[in-house]
Amino acid sequence: MTTELSHIRSSFAAVQPYGTQVTDYFYEHLFANNPGVRPLFAAHIGDQRDRLWAALGALVNNIENTETLTGMLQNLGRRHVGYGALAEHYPAVGASLIASLRHFAGDAWTPEVEESWAAVYGVISTTMISAGEAASV
Ligand code: HEM
Repeated sequence: MTTELSHIRSSFAAVQPYGTQVTDYFYEHLFANNPGVRPLFAAHIGDQRDRLWAALGALVNNIENTETLTGMLQNLGRRHVGYGALAEHYPAVGASLIASLRHFAGDAWTPEVEESWAAVYGVISTTMISAGEAASV
């Protein structure tokens, strides 16, 4: 887990200077590969782009703070039910997130870093999906 955390931190730090270029790349990648999810997002995603970036930073900063992290993800998961996000959308979002990080991380990206992000995204999405499902029954 320690190695996993150092992978997440080092690659996120490498990507950080690119700021919202990363989220622009993310949305282009997501909508090009999954045009079906485009209508879920408001026509102008300017604010949303910044919120997604802020949320990612907050998640990485709290990655060792399990209680805070879980609470943040549960709230986020419950709000996503209202956005029309379905469990089956999560792998597509994860694939675009990883593609974006890989694109900007340069030498900080290795197969091990990618595995760590896939593992962390798995925990993030499972927590969000379960909270969303519990809220909708
Ligand atoms: C790790 C997974 C995800 C994270 C960290 C994340 C993060 C966020 C954040 C921070 C917001 C801003 C609003 C808020 O805080 O409630 C947001 C909005 C939104 N997200 Fe996500 N999200 C994730 C997965 C998904 C998935 C799988 C979908 C499904 C397609 C999705 C669709 C949306 C939509 C439609 C909005 C509202 C956008 C709008 O108002 O135009 N998200 N997301």
